[in-house]
Amino acid sequence: MRIAFIGDIVGKPGRDMIQKHLKSIRDEYEVDFVIANYENASHGFGLTSKNADELVSFGVDCMTGGNHTWDKKEIIPLLDTHELLRPHNYPDEVHGTGCKVYEVAGEKLAILNLLGHFSMPQVDNAFRKAKQAVKELKESGVKNIFIDFHAEATSEKRAMLMMLQGEVSAIIGTHTHVSSDDFQISEGTAYLSDIGLSGCRDNVIGMDSKAPLKQFLTGLKSHFDIPRKCKKILQIAIMDISDGRCSNAFKLKYFCDGRILKTEAWIES
Ligand code: FE2
Repeated sequence: MRIAFIGDIVGKPGRDMIQKHLKSIRDEYEVDFVIANYENASHGFGLTSKNADELVSFGVDCMTGGNHTWDKKEIIPLLDTHELLRPHNYPDEVHGTGCKVYEVAGEKLAILNLLGHFSMPQVDNAFRKAKQAVKELKESGVKNIFIDFHAEATSEKRAMLMMLQGEVSAIIGTHTHVSSDDFQISEGTAYLSDIGLSGCRDNVIGMDSKAPLKQFLTGLKSHFDIPRKCKKILQIAIMDISDGRCSNAFKLKYFCDGRILKTEAWIES
């Protein structure tokens, strides 16, 4: 199967880029299944039901969350009615699920969403929960496992790779909104510390620079907002996965001025 992943969609600029490009990317690259992270999709904070429906109509099949999952109250019913995950390592009594299994191109594909620890809400241990989830998925016959690890620290993300390389098909990081340059395939596991945002690229993490700058200059909290005008980008990873292993992966960056950049994942020797 060929799957695609879009990281943090930041507000309308991110949604616009998905509307503009995703259908043609699906056709051109013959993508079977698209995953995207929704946690900043609605004006930077959470997801509304209108935007959830919109993203589905643009060609997104399943959406993952993070620390901003709960920012809009309507996420609670949406977790039941839409193909949405919240991080798996929230305690079991928290609404929603962090792991779903789909039938894609004749094979089973599990999507697992995890939340890191550094600078994040206190949740259950991501590493122990991941280990247990992977064990249970394998016991139930699911070999293809995609993980969105929503975390701040690259060290946590690398540690997750060291624990699960050869065990899962892909671990792609989200949350920092800044793309890293380490796309690789290690023992059949595609890995990228962070895929980076889809949204405005000429500011601070997709938000108007005025508020973060004021915050850093004064130490006082400021309300972050999506810029009215900006330079947009769509970042998408495409991976060929079968029998639990990733054999080929690359990343595409679509700029709003028409440029497209392609980066191949290296195969770790
Ligand atoms: Fe986040």
